[in-house]
Amino acid sequence: MGLKIIVAGKGGVGKTTVASLLSFFLSSRGKRVLALDTDSVPNLALSLGLPREMESKIVPIVKDESLVEERTGARPGESWGLLFRLNPKVDDIVDKYGIRISENLSLLVVGSIDSAKQGCLCPAISLGKALISHILMEERDVIVVDSEAGAEVFGRGLAERFDHMLCVTESTQKSLEIAKRIARMGRELGIREVTYIVNKFSGDESERLRISETLDARHFFIPYDYSLIRAEIEGRSLKELDESSPAVQALRSAFESIFG
Ligand SMILES: Nc1ncnc2c1ncn2[C@@H]1O[C@H](COP(=O)(O)OP(=O)(O)OP(=O)(O)O)[C@@H](O)[C@H]1O
Ligand SMILES: [Mg+2]
Repeated sequence: MGLKIIVAGKGGVGKTTVASLLSFFLSSRGKRVLALDTDSVPNLALSLGLPREMESKIVPIVKDESLVEERTGARPGESWGLLFRLNPKVDDIVDKYGIRISENLSLLVVGSIDSAKQGCLCPAISLGKALISHILMEERDVIVVDSEAGAEVFGRGLAERFDHMLCVTESTQKSLEIAKRIARMGRELGIREVTYIVNKFSGDESERLRISETLDARHFFIPYDYSLIRAEIEGRSLKELDESSPAVQALRSAFESIFG
């Protein structure tokens, strides 16, 4: 039985961190994981440990103008007044453009499929949506999507194909409110399970109580942990972080409870 997980939340809360550690966790359990980066500024590859020289050469699918043209019949930006294919061929894209991170883990950098954020790139957006739709319908062990900040990215037609949303938030009232809004939207669109990840948590007990009262679904607290930032500064994969990282430990045990 396949598992399709979308990691969502507002900007900078830790979506990419959670998506990469979840991908490592599930792939180390023997699941075959396909991680999708659908951010307009993709950076999941670095967190998954791809060397910077390789990462800098990745062209997100929706930004690959010749691929977009080959598959839709129109170049990005050329959509006005042009007809383009709404059902482009996508079934070979994972095999051709997927990047193998380890035996059980592959990455596909799709880029943003949010037309509002991309301006008018209709052929590219249509290719991206067709691709994600295809991937979500295929039989796979696990799909982990690192999504763009916000919630609207996966509207009706795609959202309901996910089994689970991990909604990442920080402890501030504003962040919690946004997380609840994103979670509500996910549920309304048909995502069955929503779990909050309260990231960068201070450890303060009264704060923990306040947060637990605020949130309307199962949630896990992940401590603030400078070693994540240090790994990022040093350009190291999050995989190299071990049991000495409190955040990694807490996330592993959260994943264990949710998916184990
Ligand atoms: N538990 C934590 N403790 C301390 N720092 C953290 C923690 N989790 C994530 N960070 C740091 O917070 C920053 C943002 O994390 P990340 O890139 O995962 O967020 P994001 O939600 O994907 O951001 P964006 O919206 O820009 O894609 C990074 O520098 C990351 O190292
Ligand atoms: Mg991110």
